This record gives sequence, C-alpha cells and structure tokens, in this order.
Amino acid sequence: MGKIILTGDRPTGKLHLGHYVGSLRRRVELQNSGEFEKIFIMIADAQALTDNADNPEKIRQNIIEVALDYLSAGLDPEKVTIFIQSQVPELCELAFYYMNLVSVQRLQRNPTVKQEIQLRGFSEGDEDENQNKKGTPVGFFTYPISQASDITAFKATTVPVGVDQAPMIEQTREIVHKFNSVYGETLVTPEMLLPENAVCMRLPGTDGKAKMSKSLGNCIYLSDTTKEIKKKVNSMFTDPEHLQITDPGHVEGNVVFTYLDAFSTDEHFAKYLPEYENLDAMKEHYRRGGLGDGTCKKFLFNIMEEMLQPIRERRAEYEKNIPEVYEILKKGSEEARRVAGQTLAEVRKAMKIDYFDDAELIAEHTKKYQK
Ligand code: TRP
Repeated sequence: MGKIILTGDRPTGKLHLGHYVGSLRRRVELQNSGEFEKIFIMIADAQALTDNADNPEKIRQNIIEVALDYLSAGLDPEKVTIFIQSQVPELCELAFYYMNLVSVQRLQRNPTVKQEIQLRGFSEGDEDENQNKKGTPVGFFTYPISQASDITAFKATTVPVGVDQAPMIEQTREIVHKFNSVYGETLVTPEMLLPENAVCMRLPGTDGKAKMSKSLGNCIYLSDTTKEIKKKVNSMFTDPEHLQITDPGHVEGNVVFTYLDAFSTDEHFAKYLPEYENLDAMKEHYRRGGLGDGTCKKFLFNIMEEMLQPIRERRAEYEKNIPEVYEILKKGSEEARRVAGQTLAEVRKAMKIDYFDDAELIAEHTKKYQK
C-alpha cells in the first residue's frame, strides 16, 4: 500500500514565516516528491473551536486566509486534497467511538494538552465567573482523540508536524493499537515526520523571542508586502553589544543570523554577497568585528524577498478569485468525506455495529425466535 499524508492547521490567523519554514515549505516538497499516493491538508476549524468557543467568528474569517496561504505557498489542489474539518462529519463519529478507548487519566498526562491548559489559563480547580476562572472545555481536553480521528480516517501513514505535536501522534498510535487489538486489524498506525533542519523547527520572532506569535507582534507574514518585509528586517533584534561596526559581534541569539541559518544558501552568497563564500565565513567576520548589521540585514532582506515574492504573486492571483478558492475547499471536503466515509464503514463493520448489513445477525435472531 502506498504512503498517505494527513496534516493540518488551526485557522486562528494568517500563516507566518514560522509556519512556512516549519511546515508549508516541506509540504510543497512532499507534494512534488511523488512519493505519496495521497496527501490531505486539513483546515482544522472544529479543533480551533475547542478553545475559541467565545470567538467563532475569528475562526470563520481565517479559513480563507489559511487557504490562501496554502495555495500561495505552492500547494497544488490538483496534487493535494485541501479540506475543512467541520465539513467531514464522519470525523466526529470516529472520535465518539475512540473516546471509549482512552482514559481521562491518559488525556491528563498528555504533555501538550497539559501545557496548553496552563497557557490558556483554564482553571484546574473551581470555576468562578466573577474571578474570570473558567474550566477546561471538554472538547478541548479531548482534542487529541479528535486528532486521532483526523489521522486515521484517511489511513495516514505519515503525519508531518512540529515536535509539539509528538504527544498527539503517540496517542493516535495507542488508539490504533487498542482499536485493532479489540476489533481486529482495521486502522493504520501513523508515523510522525519532523522538520529536517533544527533551526527551522522553531523560528524565533523578529524581536528575538523564542517563538513567532501573533499576540507578540513579532511575525513576518506570508502575505506581507515588500515594504513591510524591509521594515521588519531592519528592526530585527541583533546583538545589543555590537554598537560600532568594528566591535566584535555575537551571532548566537542574533535573529538576523538565526534567519540566515534557516534560509541562506551558498548560491545566495554568490548572488548577493560574493565577498563571503558562505555563512561560516560571514559569521567569522561578524564575530571578529568589522561587519555591520546593515549589510547583514540587506542580505537577509534579499533572500527573503526572493523567497516571498513568488508566494505574494500567487496570493494576488487567488485573491482575485475568492469563489474559486471556496470551490477548491468544497471539492476537497467532498473528496475527504468520501475517503473518511469508507474508513468509517470499515470501523463500523469491525465493531459489528453495521446491524442492517449484518445478515448473520438477523438470521441468528430469526432463529432464536422461530417457534
Ligand atoms: N493540532 C494541530 C495544530 O495545532 C492541527 C491538527 C489538527 C493536526 N488535526 C491534525 C495536525 C491532524 C496533524 C494531524 O497545529
């Protein structure tokens, strides 16, 4: 059997460069590798609603943004199936059955869920409206189970995600093993596929904070204009001790160099900064002193423009035809339903809850009541 990919994103905002290097760029490569029989990319609106119950409009508005980001990054609807999670109700039914295979205690041990509950400030003790203490929504608490449905519904063998998703894949694998051992071989055990380059796994924000995040205002968006990119690169955090050009500089913790680690190639040097053979030579000069931040930023800007300009152009084309983008999502969702429906039928059969198709069951009960 061929290899199948499923992955996705919560539509809580536009996608930024962190998403691009962490996942989108890789997805495009995987799409073009010809190694996979099928690729499903899911806009996880239902999962996003598990912790955005008071702001559903945000999710509704961002589905198109994420879809535009996917298409402009180079995902090709002829080669991959892009769909919206909530439009595939089969996923909910699967999750409902999987819930019986997972304990509350096991979910409580899921490190990502644990951390996210803290991050979102859900109260672990009593709720109190006046003190704005809200408990954890049940849907949020159980989203790893729903994610197991997302993955298994498509018989995914391969799930490209960031490290933070490792506990989800682990739980999915446990659910698959449990299901198969109780009901017989039905579901496929998925493997996680991590990003290749360590720097790319988590791109810091332009301010040097550990993570690009909308709320910190330190993101570079795929939809940013040339002007915005220039401004953001020029205001990037570098080395606060590198005051004069002649001062020795630090490349560790220097965002410009972290981005160069992630993006620059020897070809970029030949093209834009031929005085250095490669990044090591450039770093060496910066450390020694005598290389100014302006030169480094100019170089990074050139690289980023080269990367982002085709994305921006594709986006502009799709923006001219939004109904077509919704049509792509609709077609993708129909295809996703068809595939998930097949798996669901197999699951029901394995669980022997396909009563009306079960001639043996009907015959057995006929016999039982025959006088
Ligand atoms: N939890 C993922 C995220 O927050 C999104 C997601 C939902 C997902 N279902 C998935 C990723 C299934 C991979 C497979 O990024």
